[in-house]
Amino acid sequence: MTKIIVPRSILLIFLILSFTTVFAQKTSVKNIESRVETLLTKMTLDEKIGQLNQVVGDISTGTDLAKDDLIAQIRANKVSSVLSHVNFENKITMQRVAVNETRLGIPLVFGFDVIHGYKTIFPIPLAQAASWDMGLVERIERIAAEEASADGQNWVFAPMVDVGRDPRWGRVMEGAGEDPYLGSRVGEARIRGFQGDDLSANNTVAACTKHFAGYGFIEAGREYNTVDMSDQRLREIVLPPFQAAANAGSATFMNAFTTLNGVPASMNKNLITNILRGEWAWNGMIVSDWNSFGETIIHGAAEDETDASAKCLSAGSDMDMVGGTFQKGLKKALEAGRVTQAQIDEAVRRVLRFKFSLGLFDDPFRYLNQKRHDTTLEKPEYRVVAREAAAKSMVLLKNDGGLLPLTAGSRFKKIAIIGPYADSKGNKDYLSFWTIGLGMREYDSTKVVRPAQALKPALEKLGYEVTVTETCLDSTCTEKDYAAAINAARAADVVIVCVGERGFDCGESRSVSSLELPRKQDQLLNILGRLKKPTVMVLFNSRPLVFEWASQNIPAILVAWQPGFETGNALADVLTGKVNPSGKLPMTFPRSLGQVPIYYNHLNTGRPQTQYGQIFTSGYLDSPTSPAYPFGFGLSYTAYTYSNLKLSKTQYKMGETVEVSVTVTNSGSLPGEETVQCYTRDLAADIARPVKELKGFEKIKLNAGESRGVTFRLSEHDLSYWNNELKWKADPGKFKVFVGGNSVEVMEGEFELAR
Ligand code: BGC
Repeated sequence: MTKIIVPRSILLIFLILSFTTVFAQKTSVKNIESRVETLLTKMTLDEKIGQLNQVVGDISTGTDLAKDDLIAQIRANKVSSVLSHVNFENKITMQRVAVNETRLGIPLVFGFDVIHGYKTIFPIPLAQAASWDMGLVERIERIAAEEASADGQNWVFAPMVDVGRDPRWGRVMEGAGEDPYLGSRVGEARIRGFQGDDLSANNTVAACTKHFAGYGFIEAGREYNTVDMSDQRLREIVLPPFQAAANAGSATFMNAFTTLNGVPASMNKNLITNILRGEWAWNGMIVSDWNSFGETIIHGAAEDETDASAKCLSAGSDMDMVGGTFQKGLKKALEAGRVTQAQIDEAVRRVLRFKFSLGLFDDPFRYLNQKRHDTTLEKPEYRVVAREAAAKSMVLLKNDGGLLPLTAGSRFKKIAIIGPYADSKGNKDYLSFWTIGLGMREYDSTKVVRPAQALKPALEKLGYEVTVTETCLDSTCTEKDYAAAINAARAADVVIVCVGERGFDCGESRSVSSLELPRKQDQLLNILGRLKKPTVMVLFNSRPLVFEWASQNIPAILVAWQPGFETGNALADVLTGKVNPSGKLPMTFPRSLGQVPIYYNHLNTGRPQTQYGQIFTSGYLDSPTSPAYPFGFGLSYTAYTYSNLKLSKTQYKMGETVEVSVTVTNSGSLPGEETVQCYTRDLAADIARPVKELKGFEKIKLNAGESRGVTFRLSEHDLSYWNNELKWKADPGKFKVFVGGNSVEVMEGEFELAR
């Protein structure tokens, strides 16, 4: 062994240097405010306005940096942030220019849409919410943050916490569904996963909670459409997940594209300054959505870029994504006396603070380390979590006669796997449009484990004979085109039919006017139905769809969503019983489009319908009012029974904790996981209150035959609501409390809240 002798003087210098670096980093966090102020005093007006500008990277322009003027713009102090840039080396080049070739060397911040994974693709966010497993959601985002940060991204445009009640809107896939309570918990878990507990660490990224606010309530589910609602609904349904995100420390927020009661969200002072920064005392940075400052002109709410700049900045928005509105109009707005220098400084302060908190000033290349990049992306262990997540998010809607799981030693011998999504090699069929981290151009569809690819060997291992048949997918397909698939089904004992939506048809700008299975897949199901074979329908979807015929005629239905890279493996795990399904719907599935919007936490009306057909009640002539599948619903291969619902008292005083406990028993023969849900109803408030409101949930594991007590504790806060004068308060009087495995099948109790 050779011994290297280091002179003591060098050792001493090294020790001093490493001490000062550690010390500098520690103090830098403490001294952010003074460093921001020092920097601000050195900045020219143009440099300040440049810090409020975000430009798009290679997702639009391709990887050739010379082809566009990105570098020139950075050099000219016109760029604070670059979004949607994939190429790693070019990020290093851009950061070098920002740090070494501009007067003040202010580093760039790189932003990216990390919606359901960065390089390793997980199930869509709506599916993740269906797992009701917040630890799992956090683990997913931890991995996404590891990958994104190793690839030079510092800032992710997620979580989207918009409550969605209208499945026509393609972006319901990006949220956590229809409930503000579940949405809040999912949003918090995602933020924890992204940000960890140290934003400046090289493996964490800043979250951007979006879209503030109201976007989920666009009229007719038509993308970017008008939003108009009462303040009461805004406070009660839309805002809670945003407030939870602010409290969870979301570093940034993003404006919505939409108007809210006539005012575009980007220039909505009530939302940004009064509520977000005022009432909630959140002091982060808010970025526009893609050209949403510029779109205030198209909305007809601003005259030109100067007017738009003045209105958006005065409302409290800080950074301009892509549109260049501030570049064109902010200086003019200042000269015209429409905004003050102090207002511009305040926005710049928030941007600089954000960059300091990410540690970018201490080391601008902290997230651009080649070695970390080369060793962190797509680790095999990430796939393990992707598989677990996909399986845990699947929801079993029907399982007549215990057709599933398909295990060894079954009376069935032959299985036909058919349907357009059984073995699709189409680009992104099992992923969403939001997988841009994979690179639009070099995206490799072989990374997805296709359903049949995993199912066939898994079922063969259990002793089945399995065929896989490609099936026509088009509205012009006829019975003749389905012949091969139908013949395969005829020759089999059990049929697995994979239907649904293309992954690429979900996400932004993907609203639909019909919720039926697209491209007439119903026709295939109908023809298949004539065979009267035991059939399992696997649905790949990004939103609640309508399949009334299948619900009545197909014995087993599994909602698989858009499951991501591990699609086939997760599906095989669930269908063979390796994983007992435990997903529950985070959004109501309607019987028909005509029922939309349909959601569990509705008001009662003065004439609720208790039975289909009753006249002069709130209903339809041609349909029951009940949904196809309610919020919170999902079956298991085992069964759970609820008993012994108890309240600690029947009368509580304001400020006391209501304790509700129940016993849950796994009364089936397999181990499983059950999400126990707790709802309340305020029976006599000052205004009409929803028939049920989710107040808590707990996902528990139970072995066959095992029982477990679950207790929910409700505070006065949990029983309070926003009244018509926008006061947050609890009313004395009677309340109902419900506990069960979904929003309909519940045990119920009653208590009184005394004055
Ligand atoms: C979307 C945002 C997204 C942004 C950046 C917009 O079109 O509405 O959610 O973060 O683009 O890609």
